[in-house]
Amino acid sequence: MEHVPVMREEVASFVRGRGIFVDATTGTGGHTEFIMQKFPDMRAICIDRDRKSLEFAKKKLKKFSPRITFIHSDYRKLPELNIPWEKVDAILFDMGLSSFQLSSDRGFSHKYNSPLDMRFNTEEGIPASIFLKEVPYSELVLIFKNFADLKKAEALAKEIKKRKPATTKELIDAIKAVYKTTKKELLSRVFQAIRIAVNRELEGQDTLVYRLSEILPEGARLVFITYHSAEDRLIKNSLKEAEKRKLLKILTKKVLRPSHDEVRKNPRARSAKMRVAEI
Ligand SMILES: C[S@@+](CC[C@H](N)C(=O)[O-])C[C@H]1O[C@@H](n2cnc3c(N)ncnc32)[C@H](O)[C@@H]1O
Repeated sequence: MEHVPVMREEVASFVRGRGIFVDATTGTGGHTEFIMQKFPDMRAICIDRDRKSLEFAKKKLKKFSPRITFIHSDYRKLPELNIPWEKVDAILFDMGLSSFQLSSDRGFSHKYNSPLDMRFNTEEGIPASIFLKEVPYSELVLIFKNFADLKKAEALAKEIKKRKPATTKELIDAIKAVYKTTKKELLSRVFQAIRIAVNRELEGQDTLVYRLSEILPEGARLVFITYHSAEDRLIKNSLKEAEKRKLLKILTKKVLRPSHDEVRKNPRARSAKMRVAEI
């Protein structure tokens, strides 16, 4: 399933339109496509941790191919990549996961029964099924408390340690045994918390802003779209701290949210929060 890019007009409004647009989370390439159409003089560097997504984006963006370079990497390694930083106009971080991944057979969604993998990059780390077996009980409790704000986090962690789910269905059975319900919102929260832990999604986010602000040229923009409160808090705090140190200026004094119209057309956008800073 192809992903509908979230807040693409708002993203484009912060792009100045010359030099290089870095799409740090390319997904299926929706934002890059929009930017390449809107700004014919721009080039793009497209990064994603998920090789399959990147391959998909490469095909989709073929018509712009001389203008785009694709790099399979983790955006936390951005400062180490060979990028002509002096030409960078904006970097977009559209975090989390895409509809393409949700509908894959990697166990991201409670809607399909599949093996519990949940890795963005299946070439590194361990699948969720093994992670859940290996993670200590007390750490699992914290994962459910911190990333999903769950009541009965202890009971769920205990049930999962007992059942060792290997598929999405087995994970849902464990949730059902504790909460006596399979409400969509509850399932989504549990799945999201496990995915964040398996991919170590929040690690290194805080230092990334400082590291980038040291190498980006003056005027370059950092655009963040998050879908999870812990992730938004990390970005908000690191931008504030970097502003205090005079490394950048926050352009969104109040967090930006998608319009009602966008949420109506694309419900996946409903939890999106956008923050932008200029170097
Ligand atoms: C919400 S999707 C992006 C969708 C994209 N903007 C589009 O319009 O199709 C998030 C993407 O970020 C990727 N991702 C998540 N963490 C990453 C990381 N640390 N480094 C690079 N890519 C990452 C995921 O694999 C996923 O493809």
